[in-house]
Amino acid sequence: MENQVQKKRILSGIQPSGDLTLGSYVGAIKNWAALADEYDCYYMLADMHTITVRQVPAELRRHTLTQVAAYIASGLDPEKNVLFVQSHVPAHAQLGWVLDCYTMFGELSRMTQFKDKSAKNADNINAGLFTYPALMAADILLYQADLVPVGGDQKQHVEICRDIATRFNGIYGDVFKLPEPYIPKVGARVMSLTSPDKKMSKSDHDPNGCVYMLEKPEDILRKFKKAVTDSDACVRFDPAAKPGVSNLMQIYSVATGADFAAIEREFDGRGYGDFKQAVGEAVVELLRPIREETERLLADKTYLESVYRAGAEKAAYVANKTLNKVYKKVGFLPR
Ligand code: TYM
Repeated sequence: MENQVQKKRILSGIQPSGDLTLGSYVGAIKNWAALADEYDCYYMLADMHTITVRQVPAELRRHTLTQVAAYIASGLDPEKNVLFVQSHVPAHAQLGWVLDCYTMFGELSRMTQFKDKSAKNADNINAGLFTYPALMAADILLYQADLVPVGGDQKQHVEICRDIATRFNGIYGDVFKLPEPYIPKVGARVMSLTSPDKKMSKSDHDPNGCVYMLEKPEDILRKFKKAVTDSDACVRFDPAAKPGVSNLMQIYSVATGADFAAIEREFDGRGYGDFKQAVGEAVVELLRPIREETERLLADKTYLESVYRAGAEKAAYVANKTLNKVYKKVGFLPR
């Protein structure tokens, strides 16, 4: 009976390592809210992952709380979605350690994010940065997630998670469900507005390349006005030849729902100035209600605390079931 009503499960997360970007909204959060009715959803604030790069403690706390509010403001109803902070559920660290011992040095060395982040933080290439994918695998496997909605850059991490789970299951029987990545067709990789060959990222050194979810409208409009395009003055989707324009078209498509053909028609014969203004305005309107609601929620800390506390309790219940099973399988003596 229980199996008949059991919904498929989703787990995803974002690092509260800075202000949320338009990239994380489009690549991940925007799709999460739509899944709440169909799936049993767990959305995490991946604070343990953030300390693989040095954080300012007070800022990390502020970003974490703001991100709880932004999740809710983006349409994640805490009654329908389990919203929790990773460090509040100790099973993540506990399973993370176990999985470290079933993850190979060679496979970790091939991770693109490790290579990128160690190049950016050459003075702090710590063991956590290296074993990060095993902790992320623990995040997912603890919940026996069927689907992991992420942007394109996280696909490799979901794949290694499947490899680790397959290896573990091969030794101990069917302990973990194998998760599938769920990547949006448009917006899986939002690029920097100033260097459209690079992913839009909160760690971008150029402040004009990245738009933040909670940014003021005038700043968003200014950034889109300055966005890099090309010299042929034609709005046409061609990511290889026209990366800047194609990136703006993707963003516009996500913000307005228009497909690429409709966007090409809308801006036929008009200059890039008009186009960039329209994309900026569409993004402002997309984000305005989220920013206003986030600000409103941030004024009610008691409510936000009640949300993440209840979330941690629900998450821990599910996570501990998997952890207990794993501990038994590997041979740890029960307490
Ligand atoms: P993070 O915090 O870097 O990014 C959060 C989510 O946003 C997506 N994203 C983007 N999508 C499109 N275009 C962009 N420019 C862009 N920038 C970010 C990311 O793909 C991601 O979905 N390791 C993860 C966090 C994590 C996690 C997990 C995710 C920890 N444990 C378990 C899923 C399941 C990360 O660093 O994402």
